[in-house]
Amino acid sequence: MFQTALAEAAKQAEACLIGAIDALPPGNVRDGMRWAATGGKRLRAFLVLESARLHGVQPDQALPAAAAIEAMHAYSLVHDDLPCMDDDDLRRGRPTVHVRWDEATGVLVGDALQSLSFDLVSQAGDADHPARRVRLISELAVAAGAGGMVLGQAQDIAAETAPAPLNLTEITTLQSNKTGALIRWSAMAGPVMAGADPNPMQSYATALGLAFQIADDILDVTGDSAKMGKKLGKDSGAGKATFVSLLGLDGARKRADDLIDEAEAALAPYGDEGERLRQAARFVVSRET
Ligand code: IPE
Ligand code: IPE
Ligand code: MG
Ligand code: MG
Ligand code: MG
Repeated sequence: MFQTALAEAAKQAEACLIGAIDALPPGNVRDGMRWAATGGKRLRAFLVLESARLHGVQPDQALPAAAAIEAMHAYSLVHDDLPCMDDDDLRRGRPTVHVRWDEATGVLVGDALQSLSFDLVSQAGDADHPARRVRLISELAVAAGAGGMVLGQAQDIAAETAPAPLNLTEITTLQSNKTGALIRWSAMAGPVMAGADPNPMQSYATALGLAFQIADDILDVTGDSAKMGKKLGKDSGAGKATFVSLLGLDGARKRADDLIDEAEAALAPYGDEGERLRQAARFVVSRET
């Protein structure tokens, strides 16, 4: 049930996103955007569409928000892979944008994907409720910016050269910004578009986002690079403190499992209707890609 919903969300979000990119003027930037926007699990798009469904938002009003968050996420990955950041040459099983084209193209493709994300999200939700629309847009700006994802990326880079490795509290804060902020926005998009209480989805996504990043850290050690489509072993190579370096593999797995219990508990108000999101939470920690 969840796998089908995820595949369907992926198909729809990708069609919307690629359609928007194809409408842009031709050139390397557009080609690089299409390259970077292709593939991936589309978990964030799924969270947008599923939280929208749970709150009675029309699918055609939710779809631009799903495409928007995937554009934002794709931008974050293009810049994350740049030589001045993680210096990675493989993403989603293909050469990264700066390797396929060049570094300047990588910077510009990221910039343009971020702009496209705001263009798309401005079309999401109900046009008859402009205040809800503005809130959705402004929360995306906050989640992606210097108090959210960008802050987490800056903390991550700073941690590489910090005199002492980060402790568990510091890592948790870093990850809540780096990975958590966009995941939280995705899950809150449904209630925000519906003008409903976003608190249950916020609690769900806070636990889910952290579990997701713990799984990313575990997979960096135990994963199969061919399946993941990216280089692994990067964190220990960079001497980074991660959930695995701090808790050990078993400790990290246990922490992730506890977070999944927390995420599932947060869905109580939705009863049986929350089942797909419960399955999504279990997927996040059992995934191999
Ligand atoms: C990878 O995100 C980067 C992190 C935030 C840990 P995903 O694992 O969601 O990447 P894709 O979109 O499936 O490629
Ligand atoms: C990337 O985190 C997070 C963002 C792009 C915001 P990582 O650097 O751990 O992601 P991977 O492991 O390269 O996918
Ligand atoms: Mg990184
Ligand atoms: Mg990286
Ligand atoms: Mg990683």
